[in-house]
Amino acid sequence: MPKKVIAIVGPKGGVGKSTISANLAIAIAASGKKTIAVDLDLGGANLHVILGVRSYEYSLDDFVLKHIKNLESALIETEVPNLKLICGGSKIPDIANMPFQQKLKLIGHISKLDCDVVILDLSAGSAFNVVDFLFIAQIGLLVTTPEVTSLMKAYGFIKTAIFRLLSFHFKTKHAEKFMELLDKAKDVDANPDLNTIEKFLKAAELIDAEHVAAAREKIARFTPNFVINMVASARDVNTGMVIQNLVKQYTNLNAQVILTLPTDESVKRALFKTKPVMLTEPMSPFSIAIKELAYKCLNTI
Ligand SMILES: Nc1ncnc2c1ncn2[C@@H]1O[C@H](COP(=O)(O)OP(=O)(O)OP(=O)(O)O)[C@@H](O)[C@H]1O
Ligand SMILES: [Mg+2]
Repeated sequence: MPKKVIAIVGPKGGVGKSTISANLAIAIAASGKKTIAVDLDLGGANLHVILGVRSYEYSLDDFVLKHIKNLESALIETEVPNLKLICGGSKIPDIANMPFQQKLKLIGHISKLDCDVVILDLSAGSAFNVVDFLFIAQIGLLVTTPEVTSLMKAYGFIKTAIFRLLSFHFKTKHAEKFMELLDKAKDVDANPDLNTIEKFLKAAELIDAEHVAAAREKIARFTPNFVINMVASARDVNTGMVIQNLVKQYTNLNAQVILTLPTDESVKRALFKTKPVMLTEPMSPFSIAIKELAYKCLNTI
């Protein structure tokens, strides 16, 4: 059973999720931890390309399609000691469309993988199937760039995650009344009086204060860790504050920006050579930042 599952999410496409997943996996493996990187971006699997893996026999979609019984059969050795990979494949559509039971089976197999750390590279978007993987992870890294569009999507992703968490919680008691209120809160334009999580919880307390107190505890344990990628200037660095304030205002959560990663040409050069940048240029600004991220994931968050 893996001791730590790290889920890399980011609702906007092309913000660097797979690049960070691949290189973080290498940095963690280099610290001596038995690591498995899993490409869960089934529609657009490319983690193997970034890691320089040219061919593979089985991938995750063979598991989903029942060509193989165990997820372990899809494990591929990489050239990095301690690092194995499960490719995403391209035979089935996006994970967003995966039926619930299939997802549960997949989660079950992921949580039985024999290693120290599992890294999950997820697809873009805020589908429940993506959000749910965040809940099985000990560490969720939410990748965004400093662009406003990316920040807004990241904020939307957190809202979706909290709504998902609340809908699971409220299914257990007075479900009908709570779900009705939750549906209203999702439509902020029609119900501005419920436009923050705090306002929703206050209204929900009128249904069952004790049950809402338990929900508050669950929300408080959900700490999104932001990784801001492709930061070019000092002004960009401040975007971390913007997102923290936005999240605080709406959700009352203390999101933390755990790292900013620079825009770095070494990433492009590595892609061109079809080798991960951690191997081609381990001392580039990007690689050094990734090592810091690995240290934080293993030691402080
Ligand atoms: N810090 C960086 N500096 C320069 N280029 C970067 C950096 N991070 C990522 N890139 C480049 O940005 C592009 C998108 O990266 P990547 O594929 O990792 O994003 P993604 O979030 O996984 O995308 P998708 O949502 O499509 O899965 C790639 O060409 C990658 O090389
Ligand atoms: Mg990707």
